Amino acid sequence: MPGSAEALAGKLALDDLAPEGRRVLLRADLNLPVQEGAVTDTTRLTAMLPTLRALLDAGATAVVMSHRGRPKGERLQEFSMAPIAEAMRAALGHDVALLADCVGDEVEAAVGALGPGEVALLENLRYHPGETANDAEFARRLAGLADLYVDDAFGVAHRAHASIAGVPLLVEAAAAGRLLELEVQMLSRCLDDPAKPFVLVVGGAKVSDKLDALANLMPLVDRLIIGGAMANTVLTCQGIGMGSSRIEEGSIELAADLLERAARQGVEVLLPDDFVVAADLGDAASATVVSSVPATAMALDIGPQSAERFASAIAEAQTVLWNGPMGVFEIEELAAGTRRVGVAIAEVTGRGGISIVGGGDTVAAVAAAGLSGSMSHVSTGGGAALDLLSGTVLPGIAALTDRAS
Ligand code: 3PG
Repeated sequence: MPGSAEALAGKLALDDLAPEGRRVLLRADLNLPVQEGAVTDTTRLTAMLPTLRALLDAGATAVVMSHRGRPKGERLQEFSMAPIAEAMRAALGHDVALLADCVGDEVEAAVGALGPGEVALLENLRYHPGETANDAEFARRLAGLADLYVDDAFGVAHRAHASIAGVPLLVEAAAAGRLLELEVQMLSRCLDDPAKPFVLVVGGAKVSDKLDALANLMPLVDRLIIGGAMANTVLTCQGIGMGSSRIEEGSIELAADLLERAARQGVEVLLPDDFVVAADLGDAASATVVSSVPATAMALDIGPQSAERFASAIAEAQTVLWNGPMGVFEIEELAAGTRRVGVAIAEVTGRGGISIVGGGDTVAAVAAAGLSGSMSHVSTGGGAALDLLSGTVLPGIAALTDRAS
């Protein structure tokens, strides 16, 4: 079954377009974190700038569009693109006209008045229910704003929404942007003959979210390291008492299947055997290290012994893929396990290996530890990266224009 990389190879890329003097709709994932009206992390914005700059340098008019949050078809001010426009102006060093909506007569007039080298940012696509419903009329109105389309929104490429799966089918040509290409190329290194040993590190809360990706990766992986709340569920399925730790009750059987599959395929599984525990999250200041979790305590990080064992297992890797933190890294007392694993993975890069990090929380943990620049690739996608790793062709890739054969 072809995956996203094979599918993308058959699609138009940015350099196949002749955008001079043309209007180009650029779908980006500018769903950036905002606090008190200001963007707090510009990673996704910085990542799409090479594509935007290439279009402007080529003499195109760029009409950038994105969603922000999940306003569910309502025009809620808290989800406006205004802070994003501000961050774009600063990052680009160029004016960006924020339009009052994403479709409609006024938007069409404003876009029509832009000249080559100018940039407009449409208001939040999800202010219209037609976006997530992939409504044909909504897609037609968006597509009418431009001649060409470029998709650089990797973080949302797994959603069959109008701006991702509908619009590309309605324009003269729809191509992959540089970020989309880079993401697919880097993540596919885990699927396409990865350098061995290949160590997969997973954590975070949900087993169920990662199951398809784990199943697809298992035949390629040498070691599977499981930490974080995901380990609580897996340890529970082995009959180990986890006190009042967070457990995904509905996934205990899935966890058992996962272990069985790993055993069948000769994958070594590493689980924590010591934990940082507290009565609850509010009690983190008095957290202690234990080798078995008391009935009234919650495991909130892997313990130091487990962290060292995981780090040694990672040290032998040539390829490491990491998705999901080892504990509640946002709280200093519970961050050591995630940090130790992050440092071990960064060392793999230092030795010439490949280190790939995906998932919103993991990316934030890596940034908080100052390790982003020490990884081979930090993905801008969470769900999109997992879907790609599960072997499916992402809707955002499927909808792009085929290369002439
Ligand atoms: C994200 O932040 O993961 C992407 O922008 C996708 O957002 P969504 O999960 O609301 O579709």
